[in-house]
Amino acid sequence: MARLPILTAPDPRLKMKAHRVEKVDDEIKRLMEDMLETMYAAPGIGLAAPQVGVLKSVITVDISREGDPRQPLMIANPEILWVSDEDATFEEGCLSVPEHYAEVVRPKAVRVRYLDHENEIREMDADGMLATVIQHEMDHLDGVLFIDRLSSLRRNMILRKLVKAKKVVGA
Ligand code: NI
Repeated sequence: MARLPILTAPDPRLKMKAHRVEKVDDEIKRLMEDMLETMYAAPGIGLAAPQVGVLKSVITVDISREGDPRQPLMIANPEILWVSDEDATFEEGCLSVPEHYAEVVRPKAVRVRYLDHENEIREMDADGMLATVIQHEMDHLDGVLFIDRLSSLRRNMILRKLVKAKKVVGA
């Protein structure tokens, strides 16, 4: 397994749409494993392939608490089958938007169909934080960041700070 560099906003590659995978073969499985290692090292609770510059419909998620057994989810081609009428608000962050957090409203529960790391079709009901993380990662597959769900005032403020931080790093 290998750690992959994570792109940070603003970066045009984070605005691009990912493509569905034909099947979860050895190459995609390796990508999933590398993404998990990258996510754990960051540390983060979710990662989408576009964040490591790969425009494929692949996400990894693990919301287990530190010290508890890991519960990695490796997901390709996720599709939302159902969303709850009820919404939930969570404070979100993103490895591609470092050090910025904001409350985002999303459906509280979702049902998702996907291919797992063995290329098996699976369906999963997710609620609470897991539902939020899955929806956040699926947004990345459409080129959408959580800051795109905030007011333009708030988004531009965060983007300006990110640009400034990048200039300092690059200087
Ligand atoms: Ni993210």
